[in-house]
Amino acid sequence: MTTSELTTEQVKSFHHKFVTGVTVVTTSDGSEPRGLVVNAFSSLSLDPPMIIVCIQKTSSSYDVFFARDHLAVNVLAADQLDIAKRFAGKAPDKFAAVPWATGPFGSPLLDGVAAWLEAELTERIQASTHTMFIARVVAVGHFDRPPLLYAAGQFYDGGKLHQV
Ligand SMILES: Cc1cc2nc3c(=O)[nH]c(=O)nc-3n(C[C@H](O)[C@H](O)[C@H](O)COP(=O)(O)O)c2cc1C
Repeated sequence: MTTSELTTEQVKSFHHKFVTGVTVVTTSDGSEPRGLVVNAFSSLSLDPPMIIVCIQKTSSSYDVFFARDHLAVNVLAADQLDIAKRFAGKAPDKFAAVPWATGPFGSPLLDGVAAWLEAELTERIQASTHTMFIARVVAVGHFDRPPLLYAAGQFYDGGKLHQV
C-alpha cells in the first residue's frame, strides 16, 4: 500500500503490533509540576547517553517543555495504571494525590515508578504536529518493580513477561 491509499486505521494496525513501556514525562514551570503520558520515548545512544521524547504541540505543557532546560522520564510500574490514566488526561491537577519529589536537576520524579531519568535538553526538532526533544541523560534511578506495558491500545502487566 502506498501513502496516498493508507487510512489511519491501517497505520494503527501496524503500531498495534509494537509493544512499548509507558512513561510520564515531567518538567516544572518553576513553581508547578507538569507532565503527560508519553510512549514516543526512545534511547538515541548510550555513549553519549542521549534520549528522544516526542511531545504534541497541543499538550497543555508544551510551552513549558519547550522553554525548560531539563525534563524527567518516569517509567511507570505495572501497578500504576491509575497514574497512566490520570496523566493521559487533561485534568489541571494531575499531580494532586500523586506522591512525587524534585529530582537533582529540578524535574518532578513520581514515587513508585520502575525507573526514572533526568535529561538536559540539547535539541528541539520540529516535526509537524509534534516536537522531538533530544536530551542528554544526567541522572537515573531504577527499582525492582516490573514495568507497565502498552500494546494494541491496551495496558498490560509487565510482571507477567517471560523470557523466550
Ligand atoms: C499510551 C499513551 C501514549 C501516549 N503517548 C504520547 C506521546 O508520545 N506524546 C504525546 O505528546 N502524547 C502522548 N499521549 C497523549 C497524551 O498523554 C494526552 O494527550 C494528554 O492528555 C496530554 O495532556 P496535557 O495536554 O495536559 O499535556 C499518549 C497517551 C497514551 C494513552
